[in-house]
Amino acid sequence: KTMADQLRKYESLLTLTPQRMRMIVHAIEETLDAGLQKDGMVVVIPTFVFGWPTGEEKGEYLALDLGGTNLRVCLVTLMGHGKFEVTQTKYRLTEDQKQEDGQKLLDFCAECLDSFIRDSLGRTEEDGILSLGFTFSYPCSQLRIDHGGTLHWISIPLIRWTKGFGAPNIEGHDVAAMFAASLKRLNVPAELTALINDTTGTLIASNYVDPHTKIAVIFGTGCNAAYMENAGSIPKMASVGLPEDQGMAINCEWGAFDSFDHQHLPRTKYDIQIDEASNKPGEQSFEKMIAGLYLGEIFRLIMTDMIDSGDLFLGQNTYKLEKAYAFDTAFLSLMESDPTDELLTIVGVFTHFFGIETTLEERQFFKKLAVLIGTRAARLSACGIAAIVSKKGYLEKGCAVGADGSLYNKYPHFADRVHTALVDIFGEKGRNIVTHHAEDGSGVGSAIIAAMTKARKEKGY
Ligand code: BG6
Ligand code: GLC
Repeated sequence: KTMADQLRKYESLLTLTPQRMRMIVHAIEETLDAGLQKDGMVVVIPTFVFGWPTGEEKGEYLALDLGGTNLRVCLVTLMGHGKFEVTQTKYRLTEDQKQEDGQKLLDFCAECLDSFIRDSLGRTEEDGILSLGFTFSYPCSQLRIDHGGTLHWISIPLIRWTKGFGAPNIEGHDVAAMFAASLKRLNVPAELTALINDTTGTLIASNYVDPHTKIAVIFGTGCNAAYMENAGSIPKMASVGLPEDQGMAINCEWGAFDSFDHQHLPRTKYDIQIDEASNKPGEQSFEKMIAGLYLGEIFRLIMTDMIDSGDLFLGQNTYKLEKAYAFDTAFLSLMESDPTDELLTIVGVFTHFFGIETTLEERQFFKKLAVLIGTRAARLSACGIAAIVSKKGYLEKGCAVGADGSLYNKYPHFADRVHTALVDIFGEKGRNIVTHHAEDGSGVGSAIIAAMTKARKEKGY
């Protein structure tokens, strides 16, 4: 097969038409509705974050952020009027840490926090105990009961790991209680006030800065969204007895859309291979087609398929490409942004990291393949945004979407592709929905939520 034939094949496999996208939007909307009725594979989690911030939240808060790639520890100073300052330190988690015992992982987070407070901030117990918002970006239920009008927190269990994490002895356990135990054992001068998802944090932080923001999306190692719902539209929470118009942030956990059934998404054999080889086969189907953890692997699997059929790198030693996850999504970003006619960045990626020589024709093919994979991811995630927009009726007036994560921030043209897809789905009105980078969304969001939670507790509800 010629490279042109190959390209046509992958174009037809990876391209999403507007009509197909509209069908996916509809299915996601139905899935969200069903998840608000009762927990399903897509759990759609009421977060017990009540309504929008006033913008006047103030004070100093600690924020711990366990996302996909990094562990961040921050001191956030909220100054009101949507203003804030952040001092932070980043730590990288090793692959081993993602798989070792759950309590050990949380102990490590507590140790990092402790050294940040004592060494970077120079604070001790005598300076007082700061409130802490913990952004723990994996699906956690928020189980609470109502005691005569007072909401009491009982338990925040991790429903399941996502994004390749697999640490034992934590799924099904109360992460907040486990982390509070780590803080106590290590004598860390901090009090856990709120445990939240990155999407929820980004939603609240983006709205604090720009009240026009109604939705938040993370496009990173994983992909997920949050928005604000009225309590009256959350049937599975009816027994809590909240006023109908009480705002409640919802963590959609849409990464799980179409899991197990696989009825709606146009999965290719490469998506299926990724799924089957993952530590959670069947799960997170939507996320596995979109998120940064997987895009490089989709590209690699296509290459290995072409190597096996004798269409690529004949006579060269390709063993370095045979290793699962050897081709990072960052390589796709680099290839897409190669400005040279000879595609010299792509030459560098292949020779330097894989010891492979490429022809110009192959490099042109790779660049186009990266565009196809990156565009499919952006268009699928736009379907998720469109589902929330349509469900909440935000299209006419328009709204802003706060966005964060490595794909959004670093992958070339990602935001433009999401915007184009929204126009493909909705027509010209799709232009009313605009994404923007939520600067330090999770960290600031968890601080604001800690402030909101503290104020609510002080008022006794
Ligand atoms: C960071 C946020 O900017 O983006 C985290 O602070 C979030 O809370 C993360 O989880 C997502 O991106 P990635 O690429 O690290 O998964
Ligand atoms: C995964 C997690 C989700 C998180 C998202 C983005 O989908 O399950 O909780 O919000 O990644 O980090």
